[in-house]
Amino acid sequence: MGVPTLKELLDEGVSGRAVLVRSDLNVPLDEDGAITDSGRITASVPTLKALLDAGARLVVTAHLGRPKDGPDPKLSLAPVAAALGEQLGRHVQLAGDVVGTDALARAEGLTEGDILLLENIRFDKRETSKNDDERLSLAKQLAELVSPGGAFVSDGFGVVHRKQASVYDVATLLPHYAGTLVADEIKVLEQLTTSTERPYAVVLGGSKVSDKLGVIESLATKADSIVIGGGMCFTFLAAQGYSVGKSLLEEHMVETCRNLLDTYADVLRLPGDIVVTEKFAADSAPQFVAANAIPDDMIGLDIGPGSVKRFAALLSNAKTVFWNGPMGVFEFPAYAAGTRGVAEAIVAATQKGAFSVVGGGDSAAAVRALKIPEDAFSHISTGGGASLEYLEGKTLPGIEVLASEQPTGEDS
Ligand code: 3PG
Repeated sequence: MGVPTLKELLDEGVSGRAVLVRSDLNVPLDEDGAITDSGRITASVPTLKALLDAGARLVVTAHLGRPKDGPDPKLSLAPVAAALGEQLGRHVQLAGDVVGTDALARAEGLTEGDILLLENIRFDKRETSKNDDERLSLAKQLAELVSPGGAFVSDGFGVVHRKQASVYDVATLLPHYAGTLVADEIKVLEQLTTSTERPYAVVLGGSKVSDKLGVIESLATKADSIVIGGGMCFTFLAAQGYSVGKSLLEEHMVETCRNLLDTYADVLRLPGDIVVTEKFAADSAPQFVAANAIPDDMIGLDIGPGSVKRFAALLSNAKTVFWNGPMGVFEFPAYAAGTRGVAEAIVAATQKGAFSVVGGGDSAAAVRALKIPEDAFSHISTGGGASLEYLEGKTLPGIEVLASEQPTGEDS
């Protein structure tokens, strides 16, 4: 990959050295603020543990959600600090602020093997600012927390597509290294794109076509088939001239979908049947209809059993599979069969030797929620947006910066 690795930093020796780590600890929370899927915390542990075991004084920065107006108690990293502490088997201090007096005092007080988590980095609006100077001023304060002699480890794969202060700018100020999670994720995506064995099947779901347009356009010329389910399939069905009732529809994307269907007719595969219901509710009774016969007063919440069978048959021959996005509202048991069926078909293909990658957020959460063993897939990515942008061929700022020259002195 051509970027300095965690191993290089460990070989330099980190005992007593202050190290800043950017992790992606953006986990889903329920209404009571409890973590519903701790996959990203688990995935972040190896890098943190390796540094702590080597005696580093660790300062960890991460975000949770998308706070709009500064600090929001509902998006505090407090539950994450507790869960991380449990997984690491040691106390994780949580700073009361991001780079303020509490964070500074706590960072100064760290001794070998101590870990401090800064409060949600997005509580500071400079993190996501489009203004380079604003982001740099926050990055300097982050660097100060590990000065003098600090290093930066980038391990938040889920955010490497974001040009943000704690992802990009701070790496321009401190000696920087890719953590094991980032290195592993890039290795898998490189394998997916450079040594792709055919047939290559892509499964796309989730709610919005607009989020997946880039990847559809990019993969349509590389994959043998792109299976489409989830909320986004209704915009495609509408583009075929079908009525989709009260189902999710992106009107402004219908024309684009029509063009995609015209251009890539041999590649794009749509569901032939749909599970519909009266309202968006777990207890609303399911009905099975053909995809061209969705009643006007019904909403589609899953792909139907016939589609699952057809998609599974197609996946059974695949040698490479990339999956991003659930096929339906898997959180409601009555509408989880599509996602489960496709996931099981990918598992079966993997057992037959296919290389399978589950890309990110919702699909990874679905695998865990449906209790499908994670190791039944070749790789489950922690980054939805990041892996999609990688596959689109976009430059990921958080990776590009790691390949840049190491700063000579601290500029903080
Ligand atoms: C994610 O959830 O995909 C990552 O944590 C990035 O979050 P973001 O989309 O809010 O930048």
